[in-house]
Amino acid sequence: MCGIVGYIGHREAYPIIMKGLQRLEYRGYDSAGIALYDGNQINLAKTKGKVIDLKSKSENSISLEGTLGIGHTRWATHGIPNDTNSHPHYSNSGDLVIIHNGIIENYETIKKELSKRGYVFSSDTDTEVLVNLIEEVKKKENVLLGKAVQIALNQVVGAYAIAVFDRNKPDEIVVAKLGSPLAIGIGQQEFFIASDASPFIEFTNNAVYLQDQEMAIIRLGKEIKLRKIQDDAIAYPLVQELQMNLEEIEKGMYDHFMLKEIYEQPSAIKDTYRGRLRVEQGIIKMAGIDQNIERFLNAQRIIIVACGTSWHAGLVAEYIFEDLARIPVEVEYASEFRYRNPVITDKDVVIAISQSGETADTLAAIKLAKERGAYVFGVCNVVGSSIARETHAGAYTHAGPEIGVASTKAFTTQITILSLIALKLAKEKGAFSDSKYHEILSELENIPSKVEVALESNSLVEIISEEYKDSDNCLYLGRGYNFPVALEGALKLKEISYIHAEGYPAAEMKHGPIALIDEQMPVIVIATNNGHYEKVVSNIQEIKSRKGKIIAIVTEGDEQVRELADHVIEVPETLECLTPLLTTIPLQLLSYHIAVMRGCNVDQPRNLAKSVTVE
Ligand code: M6R
Repeated sequence: MCGIVGYIGHREAYPIIMKGLQRLEYRGYDSAGIALYDGNQINLAKTKGKVIDLKSKSENSISLEGTLGIGHTRWATHGIPNDTNSHPHYSNSGDLVIIHNGIIENYETIKKELSKRGYVFSSDTDTEVLVNLIEEVKKKENVLLGKAVQIALNQVVGAYAIAVFDRNKPDEIVVAKLGSPLAIGIGQQEFFIASDASPFIEFTNNAVYLQDQEMAIIRLGKEIKLRKIQDDAIAYPLVQELQMNLEEIEKGMYDHFMLKEIYEQPSAIKDTYRGRLRVEQGIIKMAGIDQNIERFLNAQRIIIVACGTSWHAGLVAEYIFEDLARIPVEVEYASEFRYRNPVITDKDVVIAISQSGETADTLAAIKLAKERGAYVFGVCNVVGSSIARETHAGAYTHAGPEIGVASTKAFTTQITILSLIALKLAKEKGAFSDSKYHEILSELENIPSKVEVALESNSLVEIISEEYKDSDNCLYLGRGYNFPVALEGALKLKEISYIHAEGYPAAEMKHGPIALIDEQMPVIVIATNNGHYEKVVSNIQEIKSRKGKIIAIVTEGDEQVRELADHVIEVPETLECLTPLLTTIPLQLLSYHIAVMRGCNVDQPRNLAKSVTVE
């Protein structure tokens, strides 16, 4: 849940690391630090706050020279965010310096042992314990840094991606990974280290993604050597050619990544179905499904595991799979699933959904499902991510990098891919008529242009946002396919604007939440014309008679709801099963504008991080 960056080569390391940290700030942004080796000594600066605070601190306090360095942006786990707990951390001798993403679970025990041997600790972090353990091993066993790292890591329990170097051997950086991501960019006589490829994409397209339990000694002028941490076996680096480009990870003309990503949805959805959805031929091509179609067709049920927004996409999928393919579906919070004793058999198919592909709870749920014999299919956005690797097969969403902490295009592209899967299985099972199948196929192809139309509501949504930006609470209601959209709308609002919001199935309102409604309460109701429309209209009437303020998301041309609601936002007409792809758009825009008007940091909301690699 932190971002790490490192560089060793012939360029000045400082600007590369700083820029890299800025790109990785989505992973954590409560403190940051950098350590540079200038040819004589290590110069280190760290601070509570964002990378921009680190920039001014380091430019005012240390020499920025050096062609070797490491940097870190933190999301606190052990120890509050302050200067001392920020990374990098020195070992007691000052020889070693480390950055770490992850958690060392047995650090208290190791700390006690090291304290007995005279080690002192200035921070509350598990990371400072780890670097001192490496130092102790190095001295005691009289081994080189790489070996010391390996021995030390065999004594720790937990998760890590680390980069460490020794000021007495400033031609190498040692890195290791278990549970947290780590990529090595390979340039000409230079190497980059990062939590993902975004910090080095403008320098090289060649990268090695370390696998769990692997470590590498990155030495200038030498090939990378990979080893298994457990048993010292040699591992062979698989150099991948990256498809990502720099433009994709810059904000461009937008004020925030979130807004950019909201506007990218038409192309992201298109990229997701490109090559898969072949309307003219009437087929859906998905290698991950085609190769294992029997597993899906014979599945007793599908269990979906995910967290946050991905869980909401899973809920939409539940409606689609049951409605179209007639396969029973259960949707589980990965964090609950992994700690229950769930009944899973080899007749179950588990679909794990995750934008980042690194969410710790989802990963653990996958491992549990595999242990119990289920077939596990991943729906991820980040190529080569841990979940993509851990699953038996899968499909990427191809949404492009999502940097804003609030998921937007990840949600709609996940729904797109899950709809493709459901349609494909429905067709194979003969669950519905050819004409219905073709109708949905061609409507799915129209969705990107309809999303573009839905985005035209932006100015209206901005005006509505002005009226409700000071609300303390907000209720979101939807039925059927749009119930998960209500949940997602509420999550978007609370996570970036800090307004308390609840999503509910519209009909549940009368079982409790209706007591909250008064003239102060904005109620956002999704009332498209084809999903239990009349019932939702009745719910709107119930809100109106209690003087609630109604913001309704309706189908173009709607008149009935317009009569009742305080505001209506139109989206184009589509098939009921595809409405979430459109109704979610104004809700994303609403939370975005309200958050901006309240002065909130939209891309980096407080206490959050983009990928949650801790449980
Ligand atoms: O990377 P994942 O899709 O696994 O992430 C799951 C959640 O952490 C994520 O969706 C989170 O809820 C977002 N901040 C929501 O906008």
